[in-house]
Amino acid sequence: MSLDELKNKIKEEIPISSVIGNYLSIKKSGSSLISLCPFHSDSKPSMHINDSKKMFKCFACDAAGDAIGFVMKYKSLDFVDALKEICQSQGLNFESYQEEKKSNPRAEMAKKILALATKLYRKTATTHKFPPYDDFIKKRGLNEEIASLYNLGFAQAKNSLCDYLSSIKDDSERIKAFDTALELGLIKKDRYNEKAHYDTFRERIIFPIWDQIGHVIGFTSRVIRDDQKPKYLNSIDSFVFNKKNILYGFHLAKNAIREKDAAILVEGNMDQVALYNNGFHNTVAVMGVALGAPSLERLTALTKNIFLALDSDNAGFLAMERINRQLAEKGIVAKYIEFSPQKDPDEFLQAQGALALQTKIENAVAAYDILLDRIIPEKLPEVLDRKLEILNKAFELVSPLRTHLAATERVVNLAKRLGLKSEPGQIVKNYQEFIEKIEAKEKTAARFNLKTPPIESPSHGFESDENELSETLMIDQNSELKLQENNLIAFKIPMNKTEKLILQELVQLPSLLSEEKMLELLDFVTCDEVKKYIGKVKKIILEIDESEYVSVISNVINSTDYSSDLREAVSSALFKYKVRELDNKTKSRLISDMKTKLQMEQLKIKKEVIKKQQQECSAEEEMTELLNALSEIEKQLQALKKTRR
Ligand code: UTP
Ligand code: MN
Repeated sequence: MSLDELKNKIKEEIPISSVIGNYLSIKKSGSSLISLCPFHSDSKPSMHINDSKKMFKCFACDAAGDAIGFVMKYKSLDFVDALKEICQSQGLNFESYQEEKKSNPRAEMAKKILALATKLYRKTATTHKFPPYDDFIKKRGLNEEIASLYNLGFAQAKNSLCDYLSSIKDDSERIKAFDTALELGLIKKDRYNEKAHYDTFRERIIFPIWDQIGHVIGFTSRVIRDDQKPKYLNSIDSFVFNKKNILYGFHLAKNAIREKDAAILVEGNMDQVALYNNGFHNTVAVMGVALGAPSLERLTALTKNIFLALDSDNAGFLAMERINRQLAEKGIVAKYIEFSPQKDPDEFLQAQGALALQTKIENAVAAYDILLDRIIPEKLPEVLDRKLEILNKAFELVSPLRTHLAATERVVNLAKRLGLKSEPGQIVKNYQEFIEKIEAKEKTAARFNLKTPPIESPSHGFESDENELSETLMIDQNSELKLQENNLIAFKIPMNKTEKLILQELVQLPSLLSEEKMLELLDFVTCDEVKKYIGKVKKIILEIDESEYVSVISNVINSTDYSSDLREAVSSALFKYKVRELDNKTKSRLISDMKTKLQMEQLKIKKEVIKKQQQECSAEEEMTELLNALSEIEKQLQALKKTRR
């Protein structure tokens, strides 16, 4: 049975009075059923419940709907949870709708294997005594109840999952099980022996990850010793698991988010567990620092009051800036909670307790106010132009809010703080013009299928470091998002030929990644996953030994959402990898060459796009515009060719 069928079954077969009767006392009045309406303060029963029409309606406040609608509204549940609740109260088997859905055996098998692995890791944690697991639980202040709610588990230093799968008697079942476990990334093939497998998660604390209904779709796992890398190892992306779309703890938190009309957003799964454990049930984690568009949608559908409670380090601050921006683009002004000297909310709770966190939440100010404060120097500049520069930065900063009052009020205030003498109306007018310019730029960019150049990000006062790279990533992600929102184009830019070659070169010469010039090069990479890969590896190589390089990189491409194209390109280059020492001059030359190649490739692609547009173009004015764009590109190409000689 599908969810839809289950919905119909409930509507058809269960009298609405029987559903509502679970929550309200229903009286008979003549031929109709009535009750006090729970959706307004009702003194006489104004809510009518009609079993034949399968509807309820309050004649005082106009609340109306069917049985499922009632439960959703009354219990602040989403659709699926309301179905679940009705099934429970009416003695129906909610899970059966899934079990009967045998149409997709691949998904069935995946679900089975994931449930099985969850059980195995959980059983290992609870029935054996493993000091690393027990210590972890104790150190994080978790009790059995929480550990069991989260189904926390432990993976031993051996291939328990493989062993378990091998014990499946039926040959075809066993083969299928191995294939699925491989596909889900729970096990891996031995590099030297195709037939042998090993467990992906070994000597790790296991955190199952659920979809919004509460089915396990993958795992994240934490090291138990400092010498293990990476600290967190996640399931690879597969047909059931997509890291970008995950809000860890969402199924546990969603009702509390709705009830409190507020959500706390943290960075790590462990922070989510810690907050939940301390009574902050309305917490979800982004798992790293990226919040994908689907997650953003899911979260903002429940509440517009969002508290950003990310880590206290640079990466956390940058994530705050980025997520704040994503939310602002939806008209939401997020609040910011800061935890230093502790490094994250988990450690803050350990050090200062739940009450202190509650106080922080109550006193939280808009992230924008923190960001705006940072662009005003301690000593106000005397020179007018310098003040205007700062005002301009403020315009940029709040521009995702467009002309929302939350933006205009802030720029007016800031102008006052800077001691500018213009009337508020004048400031607002200037700000509106600024917004118009941005919008015009976006329109052009969308028309030419090009990405908007990053709106310059306000300086955050940090030393330039690896984060600059993620900043590049972040801005690109934003512009892509913006374009998608306008419904103009929604596409993922695939790796082009040059990018592929350069990627492979970089795989073989990882020392280039630490060069400062790499940042310039990245500006000319259009493919997101190539950028992502470079960003990731750039950080990793600082932490690992030469000897670990090949195995760590193999892991990297397996453990995040990379396309098979990228994986293949990287693996084949990795296969030929040899340690090579390069002097600084060579490094610099190599990067310059790569940059030029990328620039040329990009220009050529632009040229193609414009040529296509020319074919479809009829307006003269537009044609001139396109011709100008073409000749500009041609000029740039010629200039680049010269530098190559
Ligand atoms: P942190 O390094 O801040 O870890 O990474 P944490 O959340 O404080 O974890 P504990 O308290 O040491 O257990 C923040 C988040 O970044 C992602 C994880 O989602 C993690 O929760 N991450 C971190 C990875 O995906 N891989 C890593 O190797 C490290
Ligand atoms: Mn932590």
